[in-house]
Amino acid sequence: MKALVLCGGAGTRLRPITHTSAKQLVPVANKPVLFYGLEAIADAGVRETGIVVGDTEREIRAAVGDGSAFGLDVTYLHQDAPRGLAHAVVIARDFLGDDDFVMYLGDNFIVGGISGVVDDFRRERPDARILLTHVSEPTAFGIAELDADNRVVGLEEKPQEPKSDLALVGVYLFTPGVHEAVRSIEPSRRGELEITDALQWLLDRGFDVRSTTISGYWKDTGNVTDMLEVNRSVLETVAPRVDGSVDEASEIIGRVRIEDGAKVFASRIVGPAVIGAGTVIAHSYIGPFTSIAEDCRIEESEIEYSIVLHRASIVGMRRIEVSLIGHNVEVTPAPRTPSVHRLVLGDHSKVQIPT
Ligand code: DAU
Repeated sequence: MKALVLCGGAGTRLRPITHTSAKQLVPVANKPVLFYGLEAIADAGVRETGIVVGDTEREIRAAVGDGSAFGLDVTYLHQDAPRGLAHAVVIARDFLGDDDFVMYLGDNFIVGGISGVVDDFRRERPDARILLTHVSEPTAFGIAELDADNRVVGLEEKPQEPKSDLALVGVYLFTPGVHEAVRSIEPSRRGELEITDALQWLLDRGFDVRSTTISGYWKDTGNVTDMLEVNRSVLETVAPRVDGSVDEASEIIGRVRIEDGAKVFASRIVGPAVIGAGTVIAHSYIGPFTSIAEDCRIEESEIEYSIVLHRASIVGMRRIEVSLIGHNVEVTPAPRTPSVHRLVLGDHSKVQIPT
């Protein structure tokens, strides 16, 4: 069995965070979301992995390398433009050969991994197996319709009038029968070769497409609340460890990981929290469910239940909560008089300021 991981496409939903970088590298508890997927693939006993890349190929290659750090043997497959999930299967034809494969969307996060569903697939070997989950915004996903016996009878990509709230999760298991399906379908209204259409093609011809419904799922729907929530759930499993330095005037409480080269002065950190390599925390309070990435500076500030991306600096702020702060962002108090807010915000930024 092989794996096909999709990391092409353009990141627009979590913008401005993913304006300039690959959305598959958005960190959860200071680790790119893609890495959790690669670990899940290795845990499921799959080694040969094709990664479909597009415009952000350089970033993905720099982060994943040859895959050996994950116990994988990675081949990069270049897709000239994001022409659809089924198109990614078309261009991977030679790599996949006649093997069964698991297709994994690189921006998806599945709590608990995929070993169970891969084992079921190996045992039962239907023509295809899909994963479904209940969602609150079905128009943003591929949606499945099940019959009274829970058999998949129809699939529709981002329907305006969804027939259920059961969304396709970005993990699909296929036998080589799917290759004829992806070659036979036409581009959709949005101009993409849809994997939902390939699955519908299989259903229409009587192929056996089974589903498993899961809970514990996240993808970049642009919903920062969900991202903070998945970050919270992963932080709760982080192993506490201090590799950086913490001075005597500081207090570290609970599940806290302080990475190599981070420095903590006269501060209080209450876990679960992670502090990235090279970050300096001084005269500050870091509260539960907070991830501070690498090379940040937090001084005389309080921050809780938030994600701070690399090289951001927060100085003199009391207090930040429920926030996502991007790369290289600077947050500082305004000069005292006149009392004004001075803002330099990127496109699509969202700020809430007490009035
Ligand atoms: O995440 C689950 C959803 O993923 C499903 O519910 C939908 O049925 C499925 O079509 C897909 O929807 P999205 O439109 O949200 O997919 P997105 O464009 O975000 O692409 C998913 C991943 O695949 C992402 O890592 C980028 C990559 N990709 C996407 C396209 C269109 C490629 O590598 N090549 C592509 O051509």
